[in-house]
Amino acid sequence: MRFSIVKTLQLHPPAAPAEQLLLDKLERKRLPKHVAVIMDGNGRWAQQRHLPRVAGHRSGTKTARSTTETCARLNIEALTLYAFSVENWRRPKTETDFLMQLLREYLRREMPMLQKNNIRMRFLGRTDELPKGVQDDIRDAIEQTSGNQGMVLCIALNYGGRAEIIDAMNAILAEQNGHAGREPITEESLTRHMYTNGLPDPDLLIRTSGEMRVSNFLLWQIAYAEIFVTETLWPDFNRARLLEALVEFQKRERRYGGISEGHAYPENSARVVGK
Ligand code: FPP
Repeated sequence: MRFSIVKTLQLHPPAAPAEQLLLDKLERKRLPKHVAVIMDGNGRWAQQRHLPRVAGHRSGTKTARSTTETCARLNIEALTLYAFSVENWRRPKTETDFLMQLLREYLRREMPMLQKNNIRMRFLGRTDELPKGVQDDIRDAIEQTSGNQGMVLCIALNYGGRAEIIDAMNAILAEQNGHAGREPITEESLTRHMYTNGLPDPDLLIRTSGEMRVSNFLLWQIAYAEIFVTETLWPDFNRARLLEALVEFQKRERRYGGISEGHAYPENSARVVGK
């Protein structure tokens, strides 16, 4: 029997008719476990309105809020938002300072929403290199939400996919230091040492504003993720656009290197035959 999420799901604010139509199409049991988002296009959004770039970032925090609250209410296990990459330090200092300040404001302002929705926060990246005030606020946000049992919200901050792999390798080496024989590194051991340890791999990667790149985001974890790229700029990526991405995800056939169910060998339907 198929369940629709319509009856039990309460969006905040309540779903508009167009959103309800999209919700009706979603199957609760086949939602992604982990959604990862490259929030791109804030600068262009501002430029189109003859506003300073930072106005686009500020508007982007509202989209971060609606995306977070909607994913939590859909019972998605984890949401990761790419807020600041290790490469973003190349931007003018006024913009990086603004982004750090905006993050601090965001954490303070969104805390009631995070608590209300039972959301636990994590931060992915070289957070020890961030300004001290930001580090303090990050620590507070983790502590304040540590008892929550619902969705895990990960903010990727001073994050780089290659840096993460290097950090994981160094953590493994540090653990093995002093031990007589070295254990070989396996996919499992590397996964355990990534910033995302304990989380399912993202099964849906959303990128707004149309660029066909993964931009050094979760390189290890997105091996089998479905990629959804939309021309919509991040500040315009409203709840209906998010629901459309989820509907599209459910249309994709996920094979993980195997073959589709209809073509599987009856005696060994799980056998992997190619890339
Ligand atoms: C990319 O747009 C966006 C960023 C580098 C920053 C993302 C930050 C936010 C959405 C606000 C903070 C969010 C949280 C969760 C605290 P861009 O500036 O590269 O846009 P462009 O490609 O149009 O120039």
